[in-house]
Amino acid sequence: MHVLSGIQPTGRFHWGNYFGAIRQYIDLQGEQAAYYFIANLHALTTVRDSALLRQYTLDAAIDLLSLGLDPNRAILFVQSDVPEVSELCWLLMTGAPMGWLERCHAYKDKKAKGLPADAGLFTYPVLMAADILAYDADTVPVGEDQTQHIEVCRDLAASFNHHFGETFVMPKAKVLDSSAKVPGTDGEKMSKSYNNTLEVFEDAKAQRKKIMRITTDSRPMDQPKEPDGDHLYQLYSLFANDAEKQAMADMYRRGGFGYGEVKKALADQAEKFFAEPRARRQEFESNPDRVQEILAAGAAKARKKAGEVLRRAKTACGLV
Ligand code: TRP
Repeated sequence: MHVLSGIQPTGRFHWGNYFGAIRQYIDLQGEQAAYYFIANLHALTTVRDSALLRQYTLDAAIDLLSLGLDPNRAILFVQSDVPEVSELCWLLMTGAPMGWLERCHAYKDKKAKGLPADAGLFTYPVLMAADILAYDADTVPVGEDQTQHIEVCRDLAASFNHHFGETFVMPKAKVLDSSAKVPGTDGEKMSKSYNNTLEVFEDAKAQRKKIMRITTDSRPMDQPKEPDGDHLYQLYSLFANDAEKQAMADMYRRGGFGYGEVKKALADQAEKFFAEPRARRQEFESNPDRVQEILAAGAAKARKKAGEVLRRAKTACGLV
């Protein structure tokens, strides 16, 4: 498999990002080729503050490395360090029917709400297609919400291949497993836009306080409770092993406990689970040059591949 995925640097990663995506990317890094990039060009459609974008980009790199992304087994780079992709994007743009892009939800939703949309948002899926096609990726792990974009990528590739001859490898989405549902502190899906997140690398003490404030129902302590569907139990399950989960479920069904106990257990588990990445993060933070070296080496490898593919595409359509 030639795996590729992009992650937007739009803020610090939370547990939902980790369990829903990052961990699964890391699991795929042993494949024949694994390209992971920080999609700062895409982020530019929403992050309009230079210092912030720079910081988010570096943070994303450090977070990924600390969480186990191994630069010897995957190519980690920053999207804008590979200018070939932007050039390829133009080639694809010339063959992208307006109608395909008008149907894409990011643009469509914004327009439906009467919000102003720019050409960056409108052509977002074309840049994404260039990201994928530039590396001959055949497998693109993404969340359910991105599958429409992969379809557009496939349509663009097929239409280019049909018109100019076999040029691009046809990619496939690999929809990430979202079975580990990650609720936020209010029980809704964890999401930055709901303001209910628990960040992977937030200060342990502050996080413990946040956990202690997670909303729970007001059933009396002595009453037995059903763990399935309880968001506190779901969060605990992300970190606990089978025996621990079973013991917790039994305690719920027995009743006679306070949610404070569960919260404390959750905070302990989360702290233990992320202790090693946290220590690694401190090391990377004190050695930013090392991070820049890794990103530069990743970009060099990525450019080599993207340069080959761009050459192929330019030849196909008569630019060279
Ligand atoms: N749009 C993706 C997201 O928001 C990020 C992304 C950019 C991406 N380019 C990509 C994902 C190419 C997969 C492949 O999640």
